[in-house]
Amino acid sequence: MRVVILPSAVDAGLYAAGLIREGIADGSVDVVGLSTGSSPLPVYRALASEPAPGINAVSAFALDEYVGLGPADPHSYHAVVAQEIVGPLGLDPARVHVPDGLAENLPQACLQYEKAIATAGGVDLQILGVGRNGHVGFNEPGSSLASRTRVVTLAASTRQDNARFFKSLDDVPVHALTQGVGTILEARRLLLIATGRTKAKAVAGTLEGPVGSMCPGSAVQLHPDVTVVLDEDAASELTLHDYHRFVFENASRR
Ligand code: GLP
Repeated sequence: MRVVILPSAVDAGLYAAGLIREGIADGSVDVVGLSTGSSPLPVYRALASEPAPGINAVSAFALDEYVGLGPADPHSYHAVVAQEIVGPLGLDPARVHVPDGLAENLPQACLQYEKAIATAGGVDLQILGVGRNGHVGFNEPGSSLASRTRVVTLAASTRQDNARFFKSLDDVPVHALTQGVGTILEARRLLLIATGRTKAKAVAGTLEGPVGSMCPGSAVQLHPDVTVVLDEDAASELTLHDYHRFVFENASRR
């Protein structure tokens, strides 16, 4: 695992955007996995300010969507992905996929989503955030580390955290569709971004805690190609903080 600790969220966004841009340029990133939430916003902003040549040929799969919300609802991840990512980055909307939270048959929609990812050749680079409780996508604590795309019930703390995007807590859906931890682990590369003091505990659990379903993010420790980009605050509870800094500073010295 490569852990890069930078002074601020803006720096983290610039660094992560650089990795994505390089991947698109060298042809290793044709299919990107999108994460919503506020963590990756600095990455998307950095990518929007200096668009990656060839990005309009890239396919994208979002991690998750609320059950009951569709593209017409501004709170849906369909709408967020369109507004924050597809437009500003210049992605081709026809190549961008988000789980269908309005599907009549949700389990069937989940299966189809898995098939669509496989048909596209799998995800080359998955962008990830981590929730305060250690969730990735909407895989809440207790999620099987082998889980696939499915319907989940959101944790009370997740609904509270996400209430800031809605009119009230009652408006936050109780259920969501999410790629499973097992689905996420099949991406060829993982790029996890976390910033801010509120994420420090979840970051420590994800990077250094025991691997287990109570911290679904910890499953990234099982993946062979992970880059974690943090700001100082998010990295503040890492035992190996100084080591990561040392590795990063000496990365090009071999
Ligand atoms: C959200 C999303 C996740 C995201 C996480 C952290 O609810 N479903 O994909 O990574 O929770 O969100 P934020 O970055 O806003 O803290």
